[in-house]
Amino acid sequence: MALFGNKNNSSDEVIKVPESLGVIMDGNGRWAKKRMLPRSAGHRAGAENLKELCRNCGNYGVKYLTVYAFSTENWSRPQDEVDQLMKLFVEFFDRYDAELEQEGIRVRFTGDIASLPENIRKVCEEGERRSVNRKKMQLIVAFNYGGRRELVNAVQKISEKVKSGELDISDIDEKLISENMYLPDVPDPDLIIRPSGEMRLSNFLLWESAYSELWISDCLWPDFGFDELTQAFKDYAKRDRRYGGLSKNDKEE
Ligand code: IPE
Ligand code: IPE
Ligand code: MG
Repeated sequence: MALFGNKNNSSDEVIKVPESLGVIMDGNGRWAKKRMLPRSAGHRAGAENLKELCRNCGNYGVKYLTVYAFSTENWSRPQDEVDQLMKLFVEFFDRYDAELEQEGIRVRFTGDIASLPENIRKVCEEGERRSVNRKKMQLIVAFNYGGRRELVNAVQKISEKVKSGELDISDIDEKLISENMYLPDVPDPDLIIRPSGEMRLSNFLLWESAYSELWISDCLWPDFGFDELTQAFKDYAKRDRRYGGLSKNDKEE
């Protein structure tokens, strides 16, 4: 983890950059409504802003950025809106892959990708293949993602191994469950940011967020820029991650 800033100044100046960051990209609809625009304009502005977030996170030294782009529950929106979100998804990687390449950003996907339409699955496969050797940061796009569905998937995989005799029930522990999540090599998020003010995870990284720090801002996702990100990292620097233990100061007493 990287620390920036002059510690001789007030502690407000210290920035801690999480190695693994989650962002729930929420508030596109409200952003559009405020401007009397259709929701689709909000989604478009939100997609543009993802490019900015990638650049800023890459420059700060974040190693894993997981963004929530479409949940397993988002299928319940009007068909028009779902179609538009699928279209934007395809366009995003068409339009921005060159920039992501320039920034050294590897792209991966997490979620129930197998159930997506073929053209979307192709974008995922292609995006992962093209970017596999990029080293600066991993962008993990949670698409058709649900934390509960991920857990169901892990239980199914483990059950198959128990059934075939490869595993015994007594082998099932937290480590084994983590190893059966969609992307077991990606570290649990240190920090999860949710723009737009909702105080909930909405099914994002339920297993992985057990000890994530949460940072919620009223800023709507399309407006969430460098200043908000920096503020989140400043506040994160002040968090005392105890993991159920004692803080460093208490231990020294
Ligand atoms: C997030 O913005 C985008 C997706 C969930 C796909 P919303 O569309 O949820 O925006 P609000 O919450 O209605 O403002
Ligand atoms: C969470 O936002 C999902 C994404 C940002 C992709 P939602 O707008 O779907 O969440 P709720 O409905 O407010 O909980
Ligand atoms: Mg929303």
